[in-house]
Amino acid sequence: MTAKPKIILGIESSCDDTSAAILVGNQIRANIVASQAIHESFGGVVPELASRAHQENIIPVVQAALNQAQIQLKDLDAIAFTQGPGLMGSLTVGTSFAKALALALDVPLVGVHHMKAHILAHFMDDASDAKPNFPFLCLTVSGGHTQIVQVNDALDMQVLGSTIDDAAGEAFDKAAKMLGLPYPGGPLIDQLAQEGNPTTFQFAKPQIPGLDFSFSGLKTSILYTLQGAEKNEPDFRQKNQADLCASIQNSIVSILMDKLDKAVKHTGIKTVVIAGGVSANSELRKRLLAKKENGWQVSIPKMSYCTDNGAMIAMAGSFYLAAGQTVGQDVAADPRLEW
Ligand code: KG4
Ligand code: ZN
Repeated sequence: MTAKPKIILGIESSCDDTSAAILVGNQIRANIVASQAIHESFGGVVPELASRAHQENIIPVVQAALNQAQIQLKDLDAIAFTQGPGLMGSLTVGTSFAKALALALDVPLVGVHHMKAHILAHFMDDASDAKPNFPFLCLTVSGGHTQIVQVNDALDMQVLGSTIDDAAGEAFDKAAKMLGLPYPGGPLIDQLAQEGNPTTFQFAKPQIPGLDFSFSGLKTSILYTLQGAEKNEPDFRQKNQADLCASIQNSIVSILMDKLDKAVKHTGIKTVVIAGGVSANSELRKRLLAKKENGWQVSIPKMSYCTDNGAMIAMAGSFYLAAGQTVGQDVAADPRLEW
């Protein structure tokens, strides 16, 4: 007799998206995301406003996920939530909610690492055409993280390289801010870059040894380019917006791809995937897919599983649960949760 598939509620509240999802086996039945537009005009996420919005959104979002999946609270086998890393106030809302609900329903509670969940998003039935085989390399690129991770197994991951300053998403967002674009600027740079020339402007390339990344030099180089050009042409930013976006995107994606190339050579692992918000970037997706010609096996999750979502938390929770890795009522949100 085959075991009944587990029904898991996944809750994500690490930054500015409140999300809840229902996973049945490896199948997502609902994945509801409430994004917080309130941060747009501030040029970045305002932590206090984010936690207030999570408080307002959490119950309606969970209710919507249950309704869409046609699942009742009594059907849940476990509750998975993002324990960290992230913003303390934001994480605390999801963590407290998950603890209270698990206590009330008397079901296991699973604390999930946000970045590991981005990686494990690849294992949902509808995430991509082909699931990666272990071991594989994952470039995790989000607003707060940029890493190359060797994934030996769902529960055995090793960070091979990390950013020493800004994350790739942060580099996109800060560059966008310099161009006068609202937060989050990454998707807007991607959109505007479609009409621009990626080789019009050349920015400084980081010289960081090994598999670590750096984006702070690029940021300074973009600023100097803008300030230099505006001495003679005050409306330079507006006039050259598309070419600037395309050139910035080209620089960031080249930095990422160069290190990924290096990691493949260093490890001999040719199965390569991407995860995290920046993996929604069209240029990064295009350049990674082109690597199939070099014999790489590439897997890219569908867009809705790239940016923050409860589905990936439920999926990661299902791996942890199967391994007996649950947490007690004494668990606390951890903004700097270790790998
Ligand atoms: O993983 P995520 O949704 O949240 C964090 O955990 O940080 O990632 C958000 C980041 C933001 O910096 C956003 O600008 C970036 O992902 N991003 C993009 C694109 N879509 C989202 N960056 C470049 N191109 C995109 N299409
Ligand atoms: Zn994320």
